[in-house]
Amino acid sequence: MRILVTGKDGQVGGALQDIAASRDDLEVIALDRQALDITDKQAVLDCVAVSDCDAVINAAAYTAVDKAEEDRETAFAVNRDASGFLAEACADKNIPLIHISTDFVFDGRKSGAYQEDDLCAPLGIYGQSKLEGEQRINRVGGKYLILRTAWVFGGKANFVNTMKRLAKDRPEISVVADQRGGPTAAQDIAACLLVMADKAIEPDFADWGIYHYVGAPSVSWYEFASEILKDYPGVTVNPIPTSGYPTPAARPANSVLDCTKIQTVFGLTQPDWRQRL
Ligand SMILES: NC(=O)c1ccc[n+]([C@@H]2O[C@H](COP(=O)([O-])OP(=O)(O)OC[C@H]3O[C@@H](n4cnc5c(N)ncnc54)[C@H](OP(=O)(O)O)[C@@H]3O)[C@@H](O)[C@H]2O)c1
Repeated sequence: MRILVTGKDGQVGGALQDIAASRDDLEVIALDRQALDITDKQAVLDCVAVSDCDAVINAAAYTAVDKAEEDRETAFAVNRDASGFLAEACADKNIPLIHISTDFVFDGRKSGAYQEDDLCAPLGIYGQSKLEGEQRINRVGGKYLILRTAWVFGGKANFVNTMKRLAKDRPEISVVADQRGGPTAAQDIAACLLVMADKAIEPDFADWGIYHYVGAPSVSWYEFASEILKDYPGVTVNPIPTSGYPTPAARPANSVLDCTKIQTVFGLTQPDWRQRL
């Protein structure tokens, strides 16, 4: 299987290359922003058209949630418009687009885990731009799989590394305890995307659409931080409410995603994020 991957230097883009390096049956052609700026429509159409790939995985995105509130144009250009360009390019070639989306499409007010067809109501620009990206892809009408995931760690800039860095020079760290979600390792997302790609390129595959995939168990950011820092005896983690840590963009209080559908269709079970720490 030959896969074109955008967002080469991102957490998931990097994890996809790591897996490809250990598999003979898989070739990943990973492109960074310089090689393919996904907001350049013609470049996207040309690149996918000449590539000899079986599927495209879009691991590129504008992921700066707070910055997006004031950099709206770039967030929509990357997360909405460019997602549509990739969908068009794939549809022209009749190959699947496998795209990544987010728990931030929800407002977090539901009491149970979110299912794929629950009402979307993003709280900020990042979530809105990702939701509109999903809608663009759907509107193009080609073959697509959208994987909504959450709380990604495994690259350089993420919550796990931030906690470890803070623990080096702070005896106490305050972490929000009233937002819950499923931390998800980039390696697990990459492995999951490849299982999906494998099935999606089968000629009779028909289960196109949106899927949820997050790590288990669900925890609060406070519980997540406590697990990350359990081997740092000199550091105390204190639970605080969201109101104690104001951010430009509001976050959903409940980011827990129901992963039954992906298990039924692809046989993928929720990975235990604690194994990846
Ligand atoms: N991080 C999370 O907690 C989280 C949670 C839920 C869902 N997701 C979704 O998961 C996916 C992967 O996230 P991630 O954490 O791996 O992201 P990431 O580490 O922030 O990587 C994103 C990559 O996209 C690239 N990119 C940005 N704009 C581009 C453009 N115009 N053209 C080409 N490349 C561009 C970036 O390149 P530069 O380095 O040049 O900027 C970066 O390498 C995204 O769709 C994200 O929305 C992430």
